[in-house]
Amino acid sequence: MVSVAVIGLGWWGKTIGRLLAASRNLKLVRAVDVDPKGAEWASAQGLPFSTNYGDALADPKVDAVILCTPHAQHRSQILDAVAARKHIFCEKPLALTRSDAIECVQACRTAKLVLGIGHERRFEPPILELRRLYDSGEIGMALQIEANFSQDKFLNLPADNWRLSAKDAPAGPMTATGIHLLDLAVSILGPARRVVCNVSQLGSQLSNGDTLATLVGFANGTNALISAMLATPFVGRFALYANKGWVEVVDKAHPESSEGWVLTKCLRGGRPERKDYPAAPAVLTNLDAFGDAVAGRAPYPVSDAELVGTIAALEAVFTSARKGGTVETVVN
Ligand SMILES: NC(=O)c1ccc[n+]([C@@H]2O[C@H](COP(=O)([O-])OP(=O)(O)OC[C@H]3O[C@@H](n4cnc5c(N)ncnc54)[C@H](O)[C@@H]3O)[C@@H](O)[C@H]2O)c1
Repeated sequence: MVSVAVIGLGWWGKTIGRLLAASRNLKLVRAVDVDPKGAEWASAQGLPFSTNYGDALADPKVDAVILCTPHAQHRSQILDAVAARKHIFCEKPLALTRSDAIECVQACRTAKLVLGIGHERRFEPPILELRRLYDSGEIGMALQIEANFSQDKFLNLPADNWRLSAKDAPAGPMTATGIHLLDLAVSILGPARRVVCNVSQLGSQLSNGDTLATLVGFANGTNALISAMLATPFVGRFALYANKGWVEVVDKAHPESSEGWVLTKCLRGGRPERKDYPAAPAVLTNLDAFGDAVAGRAPYPVSDAELVGTIAALEAVFTSARKGGTVETVVN
């Protein structure tokens, strides 16, 4: 088993902590949060707790860290873990700028450490089927993606929470949920070429925006239309349109507690065919893939180009949201 420390015991750190009980290759051995209140949760799990990240990095029993901390800290926490020779699973987004993403990826490669990323949507069974239908050529050449990931979980956050900060969570709905769709789009369509994004605060107190629309143009001429709102109830939809057919995946519930999906496929000349998928623990599947990579059993299935490509597109989203207009991305 690979021994891991969870860093950050908020919503997602505790979610991951609970899921790790069922991991086939990761064992949670330590927990860290700057907030001493984290001690209560850690003690209930029988885990040593510390308010200092350095304690986990100095612990020879810890093979890897799982970073569930605010976005603006990811870069420095990754580089500190590399210096301490720990493998890293970082929650999304990997970094907030393309140059920081490159620095993190290169540091891990140079030190021969695994870098996992919390993009569990890639591991959802219907998304894997969508990928298979596309990669096999069955639905033909990609034309366009339409996707939406919205939720209203943050409506009661206090005004000083990091998720409402333009520094920690730029283009609010994009760093919260839209980033998963951006990552999927990059994984399917390749590097983004240009981005236009509009973020507004319309229906909540979320001061860094609750309503986002982005049009991403890709180097291969395709587009992705991404919608993310934080003031409407949960909805998740990802559709890939291609020149022989289309595939749409609709979530039945928030990925936090999956209730399954409906995949609809339509091939030219045919009628839409609907298939139900049962709930699946994609977050854990992703973590176990990370564990397999640390143990040397299989490479982690997200390439360096994709890790950087998603953040290059994200940085362009930030710039367009801030300044308006179309922003060219820097392609790898
Ligand atoms: N993959 C997913 O679907 C998913 C879902 C939710 C959140 N996330 C990601 O998880 C991360 C955390 O989000 P959250 O919703 O749990 O936030 P949160 O605010 O609920 O929790 C963050 C925790 O980190 C702690 N913290 C802050 N700085 C720290 C430091 N230097 N060292 C140790 N602990 C520190 C805070 O005290 C807090 O308890 C973010 O990157 C977010 O995007 C991913």
